[in-house]
Amino acid sequence: MISQNTIQQILSRIDIVEIVGNFVKLKKRGANYLGLCPFHNEKSPSFTVTPSKEIFKCFGCGQSGNAIKFLMEHEKYSYVEALRWLAQKYDVPIEETEVSPEARQQQMMADSLYIINSFAREYFSNTLFNTEEGQNVGLSYFEERGFTQETIRKFQLGYSLNTWDAFTKAALGKGYNLEYLQKTGLVTVRNEQPGDNYRGRVIFPIHNQSGKVLGFGARILVKNDRAPKYINSPENEIYVKNRVLYGTYFARHAIDKLNECLLVEGYTDVISLHQAGIENVVASSGTSLTQHQLRLIKKYTNNLTILFDGDNAGIKAALRGLDMAIEEGLNVKLVLIPDKEDPDSYVQKIGADAFREFIASNKQDFVLFKLQISMQDAGNDSNRKSQLVNEIAETISKIDKTEDFTRQQDYIRQCSQVLKIDEQGLINLVNKFIRERFQKKENQQARDNAAAAPPMDDDLSPEAIAAMEAMENGGEPAVNFFNPDEKQERELIKILLRFGDKPFSEEDKSSVADYIFHLPYDFESLADNELVKRILREYKDMYDQDSLPDKKWFLYHSDQDVASMVVAIMEDKEAELSTAWKDKFEIDTVYGDNAYLKDTISTTNYLILRKIRKMIIENQQELERSTEMDEQIKCMQMNIHLKQLESELTKGLGTVVFK
Ligand code: UTP
Ligand code: MN
Repeated sequence: MISQNTIQQILSRIDIVEIVGNFVKLKKRGANYLGLCPFHNEKSPSFTVTPSKEIFKCFGCGQSGNAIKFLMEHEKYSYVEALRWLAQKYDVPIEETEVSPEARQQQMMADSLYIINSFAREYFSNTLFNTEEGQNVGLSYFEERGFTQETIRKFQLGYSLNTWDAFTKAALGKGYNLEYLQKTGLVTVRNEQPGDNYRGRVIFPIHNQSGKVLGFGARILVKNDRAPKYINSPENEIYVKNRVLYGTYFARHAIDKLNECLLVEGYTDVISLHQAGIENVVASSGTSLTQHQLRLIKKYTNNLTILFDGDNAGIKAALRGLDMAIEEGLNVKLVLIPDKEDPDSYVQKIGADAFREFIASNKQDFVLFKLQISMQDAGNDSNRKSQLVNEIAETISKIDKTEDFTRQQDYIRQCSQVLKIDEQGLINLVNKFIRERFQKKENQQARDNAAAAPPMDDDLSPEAIAAMEAMENGGEPAVNFFNPDEKQERELIKILLRFGDKPFSEEDKSSVADYIFHLPYDFESLADNELVKRILREYKDMYDQDSLPDKKWFLYHSDQDVASMVVAIMEDKEAELSTAWKDKFEIDTVYGDNAYLKDTISTTNYLILRKIRKMIIENQQELERSTEMDEQIKCMQMNIHLKQLESELTKGLGTVVFK
């Protein structure tokens, strides 16, 4: 975990204009900046950045939030990844806390593998362009396949020499550890001799979403029945095959903008389509889709269009796996590429425009497609047919998200027509599957509860998941945080965030925060609002550790409720502190620059007074209830004491604050 201290340092440097400016061309307009929205297609700019509030907002598509939210949306980072990106940008060294030695070891291993892969990518690219063999064999192969220089450079393609150990020597010469080199799969040891794993092959680096190289696919150049066509990186700390989709790094913005992801099978399909200007495309690398991959797609879009090769024998197997996509709430469409072509060869054959046209007009809905295929299969076999009805009902039942209810209804209507069965019968069957699954889930839950530890999405730390979920609720400050009585609680937070570190007393060199936390009252327990309590607790914790959080700490809080509340507090016009009068109305108050002292005292006094008044009422109630003389006397003494406190406090407050 990243330490609080590091996070504070990162946050204090955030400049939203600069961060968004990395990705969007911004122009200054008054107090705001304006640009073309990166989250939807538009011709005239409706995307604004407001530096004073540290937020962006698009008036076209409604996306909004702070700088971290921007990175999470635009780069698909998790909260933690966004922080790491910022740390790197601003040169803030990351201090980790509570990392187990194993986790640290794991992280170091991953870092090493990335470094080796990056070296290898460079090396293979260099070999492709700058060696004779690379040019004659590798480059001419790519050219033959119609890849331009620009494409080759963009996808960072390379070539590995047909030698025993050219790469291995170079890597060992660089000082890379042999064990790690083997882990990347770039080097293998045969007869105790380390040597190159890829020899005489063209190289396709596989990137993660942010462009780092996870591994490689290496394609053989001549047909050879004894050698595999592709040798891919083995699974290791960074390359986990079922979580990767080839091309996400290059496709992500196009997928976002077009709100559709095309899925193909091969590296070369992705590359050719890109070259043709069809950029919203990723590859499954020949395997059936996993849940991780589906979720990766879902980060960008709900619309998945799968392009199947014309000669694909595995379509039926693939169709079965696709129920999972339905469960994930994806809208799945299928396109069959004709004539034993694949997307690569087909786009080269008919051109980009015709290809686009073809996709658009041949898109078929997955569920109906599945139904048709199975109907053909079943022919007149009535057993098969009833099995088929069951299968379709099960598929439809998996669309159980409430927002997709109409879609489910549409399917039921259409499928019952195709199957020539009663609509109500199909509805009943679908409901049966929903019930069964619900039951299963409940049982599972009971088991999980019994086992205490519920399974987590192992992709992310619990903090990251919480932060993500919080972020997903948007960067818009919610409005009704407070009831009027909580105005002073809000002011206390404002005072701490704005003036916590300012001097309170010359005499003992204490700060405003010192004053507040050394009063004999615990403001966390005096506050009513739960969020105020949380902010106070967190502030106090950090105060106790001698590091006062500034307002950015809370503005960019991983809990979006806290962040939104602080935005609301800082923006709250109605509860202006008297200190702000000078800025706002150019009126000097009698307190001059030290008005925050008055604000501090009156706010804390108010909260204490409120508590004392509550106690007076409670005390009186107790007095009325009590029957024992002793008790009554105690209550009356207490009453005198409380009344005294009350009067002292009100005198100290004067009449300015309480109208
Ligand atoms: P294809 O055989 O369709 O390869 O396998 P391709 O990408 O279209 O390559 P070309 O056009 O024939 O040159 C599809 C994908 O399956 C994986 C690769 O990811 C490939 O891109 N694959 C295939 C392997 O991993 N290993 C293999 O031996 C074959
Ligand atoms: Mn191909």
